[in-house]
Amino acid sequence: MSPNESAGTERRTFRAAALLIGGVLAILGLFVYLGMTQAGWSARPAAAPTDKPTARPEQAAFTPPSVDSIPDGPYGDAIRKGMAIFNDTQNQVGEYAGSKLKCSNCHLDSGRQPFAAPMWAAWVKYPSYRTKNEQINTMEDRISGCFTYSMNAQASVKGKAPPPGDDIYRYLETYFAWLATGAKVGADMPGQGYLALPKTALGYDPARGQKVYEENCASCHELTGEGQRLPNGSYDFPPLWGPNSFNWGAGMAKISNAAGFIKYNMPFGNGNSLTDQQAWDVAAYVVSHERPRDPRQTGSIEQARAAHHKSGDYYGQVVNGDLLGDGKP
Ligand code: HEC
Ligand code: HEC
Repeated sequence: MSPNESAGTERRTFRAAALLIGGVLAILGLFVYLGMTQAGWSARPAAAPTDKPTARPEQAAFTPPSVDSIPDGPYGDAIRKGMAIFNDTQNQVGEYAGSKLKCSNCHLDSGRQPFAAPMWAAWVKYPSYRTKNEQINTMEDRISGCFTYSMNAQASVKGKAPPPGDDIYRYLETYFAWLATGAKVGADMPGQGYLALPKTALGYDPARGQKVYEENCASCHELTGEGQRLPNGSYDFPPLWGPNSFNWGAGMAKISNAAGFIKYNMPFGNGNSLTDQQAWDVAAYVVSHERPRDPRQTGSIEQARAAHHKSGDYYGQVVNGDLLGDGKP
C-alpha cells in the first residue's frame, strides 16, 4: 500500500465512522423528539373532552427554511424587510394599518405555523379564483385584502391598502416565496389555511361561548376583548373586537374561520385543548361584538348583509339589543 492509498483508506474509515455516529445521533434525536411531542400531547388537560378530529403538527410535513439561512445581499435584505413588515406591521407600515394588529397575530410564528394560514402554503396557490370577489386573485390581491379588512386600512393615515405595485407587496412576496423554498407549485399542502372544523350537533351559541371566553381567553385578551397594551402602545395580546380590531369584512369575522383558528391555536401556547364545541361557541362569542365597519358597505347594512354576509357571521344582526355592523358600540 502506498502512503497515498493508506491515507485514502484512513479517510474512508473515518468517513464511515462519522456517518455511523451521525446516524446514531439522528436516531437518538428522533426518539427524544418523539418522546417530547408525546409528552407534550399527553400533558394536555385530560379533563377537556377531545371530540375529534383534531389536527396535529406532524400532519404538516413541510418545514420552511430557518431564519439564519437568509442570504446576505439585496435578495436577503428584501426577505428580511418582508419578514419585518409581517411581524412588526405597525412600526414598519403603520400608515396603512388602521387596526392595531400585526400580520403575525393571525398568521402565527412569522407566518410559519401550520393551520394558522402559513405563508409557505399560501404562496404556491396563487394566482387563483375566489368566490369572495369572483375573480382571479394574485398574491398581491390577497395581501391587499388583509390590509383592507384584517388591518382595517380605511382607518389608517393613508386611508386605504398600499396601492398596486407598492414595494410593501414586493418585500412581503419575496419573504413568502423564500418561506416556500422547495415546496411544489400548486400543491395542496397539509397545514394550509385554518382548520375546517366539523359542525357540531348543538350548533354554536355566544351565550355558552361567553363562559368559555371568561375561563380561557380573558386572562390575555381581557373581558372587554380589547387585548393588552405595552407601555409603548403596542399590543402583546391583540384586540379581538372593538375599534382596534379587524373589521366586519375580515375572514376572521366569519364564525367558521374564527372557530378553526381558535381550535388549533388558542389559548395561545395550549392549542387543541378546547373541544370543537367550545371552539365554535367561543368563536361565536368573539365575532358577535361590534367592530369597525365593513368597507364594502356603501348603502344600508341590510344591503351589505345581502351582498356579502349571507351566512356565517353576525353582521347586520341584533345581539343583546345592539345592531352589529353600524360601528356603534
Ligand atoms: C385578524 C387576523 C388577520 C390578520 C391581522 C391578517 N390576516 Fe391574512 N388572513 C386572515 C384570514 C382569516 C385569512 C383567510 C381568509 C379567507 O379565506 O377569507 C387570511 C388569509 C391571508 C392570505 C391567503 C392565505 C391562503 O392560504 O390562501 C394571505 C397571503 C394573507 N392573509 C396575508 C396577510 C398579511 C400580509 C397580513 C398583514 C398585512 C395579514 N394577512 C393580516 C386573517 C388575518
Ligand atoms: C396566554 C395568552 C392568551 C390566551 C389565554 C388566549 N390568547 Fe388569543 N392570542 C394571544 C396572542 C399572544 C395572540 C397573537 C399571537 C402572535 O402574535 O403570535 C393571540 C391571537 C388571537 C387571535 C387572532 C388575533 C386577533 O386579535 O383577532 C384570536 C381570534 C384569539 N387570539 C382568540 C382567542 C380566544 C378565543 C382565546 C380563548 C379560547 C384566546 N385567544 C386565548 C394570547 C392568548
